[in-house]
Amino acid sequence: MNKWQRDSARVISVISQKGGVGKTTSTVNLAAAFSLSGHNVLIIGTDPQCGVSRSLGFGPEQLHGGLKDMFQMGLDLDEIKHKTTLENLTMVIPDALTMDEESNYKYLMEMSIDTFVDAINEARLTYDTILIDCPPGFGPETKAALLASDSCLVPVQAEELCRDSVTRLLAFIDEMREQREMPLSVEGLFMTMTDHRTLMSRHVAARLDEDFGSDLFDTSVPRTTRLSEMALTGKPAVIHDRRSAGSRAYFNLVDEIVERYNNRDIEAEEVAIENLRASRSGESDILSAVRAAESPMPNVGGLSKLMQELSGNSDESSEEDNWSDEEPDMMSLDDLLEEEEDGAGNQDENEWGYGEDYYDTIN
Ligand SMILES: Nc1ncnc2c1ncn2[C@@H]1O[C@H](COP(=O)(O)OP(=O)(O)OP(=O)(O)O)[C@@H](O)[C@H]1O
Ligand SMILES: [Mg+2]
Repeated sequence: MNKWQRDSARVISVISQKGGVGKTTSTVNLAAAFSLSGHNVLIIGTDPQCGVSRSLGFGPEQLHGGLKDMFQMGLDLDEIKHKTTLENLTMVIPDALTMDEESNYKYLMEMSIDTFVDAINEARLTYDTILIDCPPGFGPETKAALLASDSCLVPVQAEELCRDSVTRLLAFIDEMREQREMPLSVEGLFMTMTDHRTLMSRHVAARLDEDFGSDLFDTSVPRTTRLSEMALTGKPAVIHDRRSAGSRAYFNLVDEIVERYNNRDIEAEEVAIENLRASRSGESDILSAVRAAESPMPNVGGLSKLMQELSGNSDESSEEDNWSDEEPDMMSLDDLLEEEEDGAGNQDENEWGYGEDYYDTIN
């Protein structure tokens, strides 16, 4: 039994349609935080831009092979892995540094998705947790990651209303589900780069909470310089400065992920797997299996409702309750901005916009 009390690793992809929302920052800090909490972790960067390796202190000269070599030369994952400075954290990256290598890697990834999935399945027996960082959008890397994963984690940047892009992402996840042997669940959404000094950030938080309910993690990651320094220092913030607000957010997120997993509805999960197997032989409706698998929590949240909507199978009354075009009962953005102007300078906050109480509560 591993740290999740199961025989094989949990594989979680960090994905979003939008670029620059904090996927790589989150994947690296979560991987380090899981590793510091005793998990044996494999982090896989599928983005040829190599943010993962830079963030873990690797320069180009320290890289010795990657996914492109696995696809091209038939190497094993073990032969392309890199040990990091954390004992329990191992890294795999594309190692495609030039533009030619990058386009070759993307082509190879598209042609070798099965090889990628098989390699991850084999690695499940070695690690407790496998985290996959994806490039933005729905390219071959994201497809491969979703086909190899148990679940996906969606960072949502706090500076815009992004329900539309989350909706498109869920439709894509739905498409991927149909190509899989096993259920794929949505681990949850979390907000990144929040700044509670701005009412815009609070407004976005309120809208996401309204739309996605219990699927939204309580933890949000604040905008901090410690986190933005990661590529410079070559150390995840959770190692570089464990006490910073950003680090504590990632530790809290790890706790929430574990707690959510422990509280999942195991029976629903087993039924989902059974249904999915049956549906493979044409005996059952795949969507019922997927929906059951997608909602491991007894408290079914907004994502499930969106799934129903996407599958054209929504319940009229709940749709009306949850997806009415009316604005939620809350202040408008203009009101919020007005309040911000009126209240500017009156807040008892530190550098990052958090009052002292905030630090007390997250400690
Ligand atoms: N919480 C944060 N506070 C401050 N800066 C952050 C935070 N999270 C991410 N950043 C910065 O925002 C930028 C984008 O972050 P990151 O590279 O993690 O996003 P991404 O979603 O992986 O981007 P891409 O889609 O290009 O792969 C980086 O410069 C990073 O340092
Ligand atoms: Mg990235």
